[in-house]
Amino acid sequence: MVTTHEEIVKDVAKLKRRPNLESWARLRESWSWDDVTRELDLPGGMYNLGHECIDRHANGANANKPAMIWQSAGGALETYTYAQMKAESNRFANALRQLGVQKADRVFFFSDRIPELYFGVFGTLKAGAIVAPLFSAFGPEPVKERIQRAEGSVIVTTPKLLPKVNAIRKELKSLKHVIVIAHREGGKVADGDLDFKQLTEAASTDFDVVKTGPEDWSVMHFTSGTTGLPKGAAHVHNAVIGHYATGRYVLDLHPDDIYWCTADPGWVTGTSYGMFAPFSNGVTSVIDEGGFGAKRWYEVIQRHKVQVWYTAPTAIRLLMKAGAKLPREHDLSSLRYVMSVGEPLNPEGVVWGLEAFDLPIHDNWWQTETGAIMIANYPSMPIRPGSMGRPFPGIDAAIIDDQGREIAEPMVEGVLAVKPGWPSMFRTYWNDKERYDSRFQNGWYITGDKAKRDGDGYFWFVGRDDDVINTAGHLVSPFEVESCLIEHEAVAEAGVIGKPDPTAMEIVKAFVTLNDGYSPSEELRRQLIRHCRERLGAGTAPREIEIIERLPKTRSGKIMRRLLKARELGLPEGDTSTLEED
Ligand code: PRX
Repeated sequence: MVTTHEEIVKDVAKLKRRPNLESWARLRESWSWDDVTRELDLPGGMYNLGHECIDRHANGANANKPAMIWQSAGGALETYTYAQMKAESNRFANALRQLGVQKADRVFFFSDRIPELYFGVFGTLKAGAIVAPLFSAFGPEPVKERIQRAEGSVIVTTPKLLPKVNAIRKELKSLKHVIVIAHREGGKVADGDLDFKQLTEAASTDFDVVKTGPEDWSVMHFTSGTTGLPKGAAHVHNAVIGHYATGRYVLDLHPDDIYWCTADPGWVTGTSYGMFAPFSNGVTSVIDEGGFGAKRWYEVIQRHKVQVWYTAPTAIRLLMKAGAKLPREHDLSSLRYVMSVGEPLNPEGVVWGLEAFDLPIHDNWWQTETGAIMIANYPSMPIRPGSMGRPFPGIDAAIIDDQGREIAEPMVEGVLAVKPGWPSMFRTYWNDKERYDSRFQNGWYITGDKAKRDGDGYFWFVGRDDDVINTAGHLVSPFEVESCLIEHEAVAEAGVIGKPDPTAMEIVKAFVTLNDGYSPSEELRRQLIRHCRERLGAGTAPREIEIIERLPKTRSGKIMRRLLKARELGLPEGDTSTLEED
């Protein structure tokens, strides 16, 4: 490996494994989505994520291969083969059918990472219903908002999280069934709720997968925008082609790999790359229930001999803080390939991988809406630290100007855009076609990110082109936080921004003005933080709140978050011609 500051060049012949993608340029030239599709099993034209990920392997030579090695927070292990995953997901699919769940009904999952979550997700897909994951750290408000928006009829949850559902249950008119995975925590299931274990144990392990076509709905992930509450980005079963292909060529999955994705399945990386890409490629996945801990994580790699590891910049920065000595004290020799996604990975992070694991960290880029990786670094391609890499072979990406015209000149900043038509592209925002349509311009899908492209086609992230906050790789809608704040009796108005943070990239910071009769105090500030934490959950609630006299607004009364941010950072205020006069 030759390392200069600008480029990490790999000696491909010396890599631990011959990469599936031997030459980015050659594969790009000969790329055909149809060729990839032929590698899948689409009986009678049926496209079903559940079938592709689980049954296809369970019905063949991989039946007794471990699909999932689950490690509990306490360190206990449970292993499930593809055949067992098929049986368990079939039971859940039968249970849903008995409950009257129909094709395209929305089934929500609000659970920590436990095996039943995985059985439930694949069972739901096989039953033809839509999987709608929720982040387990959400408070009751985001749960309510999302279920209402998607008119969810079922929620699968755990005793620990159930109180958050119960707090808003009366307002969830569409919700018919609450399924509680009680047996792991030993809780009792209340009258009216359904017990996951009882329900599935009574169900058959045989199930005829619902004949979904490529354009039938599969998964819905909620994501944040500048205005309004989060939207349900809806995906179709056709997306499996993208999961499989990127699993093969970006994740470089080989049949006997042990793979670990650290993302939570409440977010899209945890489904697309914690479930669909590894399972559609038939590898063994480690699922770790526990949270982050530098030592814990190295122990997971060592214990399970993880070869391919997909993680995130915030985690890498925390690992860097813990030092490069710690990984050296573990046997991490199984590791072959490390990737990161979700936020910009600074060049120091890429290079630190060399120091800690003798492996550079490969950054890649995508979004909830794109469903799968769009731009990536590959095992066989030189890395330019700080760059997200080059477009996936079947993907056309570009930098465009505000008219939607491609900017050909290298290193000119513009909006990152992708040519529509890739298999895993979202097909709508649920019940919001107008907003969906607004994401396309001049034949391009507009990502909402700003970027640059160098002369060799490497893309460089610049920043977001909107007000969405990225905190530890999770997107937060400022509007969602502002709405929560103004519900508090003391708050008149609120403006929320992302404040740069050395570890989490951004933290949520709120500025509020008070109603008459309230005056600023430390006690009130703390009360407001508590108010948001209880309703939104710790990851979405503001970390900092500043009580101010007046919020900058346009003459039409819109709060100027951009100005709040510029003031916070001590930056020039830019164009303030629309600012409301005193
Ligand atoms: O702003 C980009 C940032 O995360 C956004 C997508 O977030 P989400 O829809 O939650 O999808 C998560 C799955 C990756 C992007 O619009 N982002 C993602 N990857 C990178 C990134 N920013 C910089 N570099 C990346 N590699």
